[in-house]
Amino acid sequence: MKHPDERAWWRDAVIYQIYPRSFADGDGDGTGDLAGIRARLDHLERLGVDAVWYTPWYASPLADGGYDVADYRAIDPVFGDLAEAEAVIAEASTRGIRTIVDVVPNHVSDQHPWFQAALAAPPGSPERDRFWFRDGTGPDGDGMPTGWTSSFQGETWTRTTNPDGTPGQWYLHLFTPQQPDLNWNNADVRAEHEAVLRFWFDRGAAGVRIDSAALPAKDPALPEVPETWGAGEHPHLDRDDLHDIYRDWRAVADSYGTGPADERVLVGEVWLPDPERFALYLRPDEMHTAFNFDFMTRPWDAKELRESITRTLDAHAPVGAPPTWVLSNHDITRPVTRYGREDTSFDFAAKRFGTPTDLELGTRRARAAALLTGALPGSLYVYQGDELGLPEADIPRDAIQDPMHFRSGGVDPGRDGCRVPLPWTADGPSHGFGPDDGAPPWLPQPDGWGDLAVERQAGDPGSMLTLYRRMIAARRTEPGLRDDAFAWLDLPGALPGDDADVLAFTRGTGFACVVNLGTESVALPDGATVILASAPLTDDGRLASDTAAWCRL
Ligand code: GLC
Repeated sequence: MKHPDERAWWRDAVIYQIYPRSFADGDGDGTGDLAGIRARLDHLERLGVDAVWYTPWYASPLADGGYDVADYRAIDPVFGDLAEAEAVIAEASTRGIRTIVDVVPNHVSDQHPWFQAALAAPPGSPERDRFWFRDGTGPDGDGMPTGWTSSFQGETWTRTTNPDGTPGQWYLHLFTPQQPDLNWNNADVRAEHEAVLRFWFDRGAAGVRIDSAALPAKDPALPEVPETWGAGEHPHLDRDDLHDIYRDWRAVADSYGTGPADERVLVGEVWLPDPERFALYLRPDEMHTAFNFDFMTRPWDAKELRESITRTLDAHAPVGAPPTWVLSNHDITRPVTRYGREDTSFDFAAKRFGTPTDLELGTRRARAAALLTGALPGSLYVYQGDELGLPEADIPRDAIQDPMHFRSGGVDPGRDGCRVPLPWTADGPSHGFGPDDGAPPWLPQPDGWGDLAVERQAGDPGSMLTLYRRMIAARRTEPGLRDDAFAWLDLPGALPGDDADVLAFTRGTGFACVVNLGTESVALPDGATVILASAPLTDDGRLASDTAAWCRL
């Protein structure tokens, strides 16, 4: 939707993340697709989002859910074709919804023509120079070139076989062996990605989400990862050369226009512990925004969240970039499950099967978290299904597909639990995900999924969907939410300190958000009128435990 002022569209946009495999299945093969998305655009319009980000929809063997791209200029046949992608971008645009596509610069699929050519070419060839091929160590070359650990656990090198059957060189993959890492010192790699950006901008994409954006640059000497390292010293994380790459990308984006409505944006997936290093990616000639994962990983605790918010705002202020607020995505345990656990923080390494959760409590907190993140300055990401309050599903072991599960030796349940096909209708074999006579969804939907269906929630004033719709509508109309103004508000119980369990802040002079993370009810600011609350107030007008309210002052 159009913004009433001249603020660049992306600075406070609500961006809905679609995982195409699991959104809606138009052709009945059990996997979501573009036909399904086109038929469900009403949902996005009714929700009121400004943009959609699609996780990869390109031709791919789907070894890592599409983050193994074989051809950026083709849509995977399981999802549709290029004409349909152009159509869905155009149709969303007529509803005022922009499109962000995913670009994965760190690696491609092992089925990508470049990698196939590299395997067929000899050591030292230009084809191999686009990747990281190296001889092994030791007399037989059977030792890995480095001992680096994969982001998915385990080794990062796989040995190739020469055309004559003898063991050959090794190649680097920070993720699975099906995802060989690209060499960003190679001019072809740079030129190709700039061409891919233009390809999608020319088709109407309003931005790109940059996958694993802190990983693509490598130290060509391939040293071991030291025990401690200074800024820019890690051999494959957050290297200084990355900034030149993103400056080049920004120039490509800016060549499409820099007016508030036509800017093409770069959104980085930047996992870095140091907020100052993180902010460097957001300098005015680099990315427009980057995901703020610090907030997402924190426990449901007022002190922790306050610290994260302050730290985030402080890190962004000097570079003038708006923060982003993210409660989850296709890699993360669903918020209603996370917030109902004893340990409410998120850590990839700590994921285990069967961790108990109280979904009622988790849902109550996830509702409050939605209003909290929705009231903070910056852009807001909503992962498909969070607007329905879907829990993390327990996927039967024999149905799991995520490589993270397998690479952990079966210890980590992986990420499929947040990727279960959406329920649209209360009834039907796939709850409206696909046609009733279609194949079963690619991941099984758990019992009770139909109770969370869009159809069920749409008319229910107390549902998560209604809360999200109201919140997004109010973000648009509340004047206080339309600029960067933010100040912590001193309320009893909201003072900085170890036992403060209330978060309260104003946006401008007329708007406040108050979140009670404690167990006792708290008073709202004097004279406040509640415009939206995540749960009913107490009989005497106080904010109950695990509840957030938006107030006009
Ligand atoms: C990002 C994606 C994740 C993928 C990984 C490798 O973290 O969000 O889903 O597995 O990159 O591309």
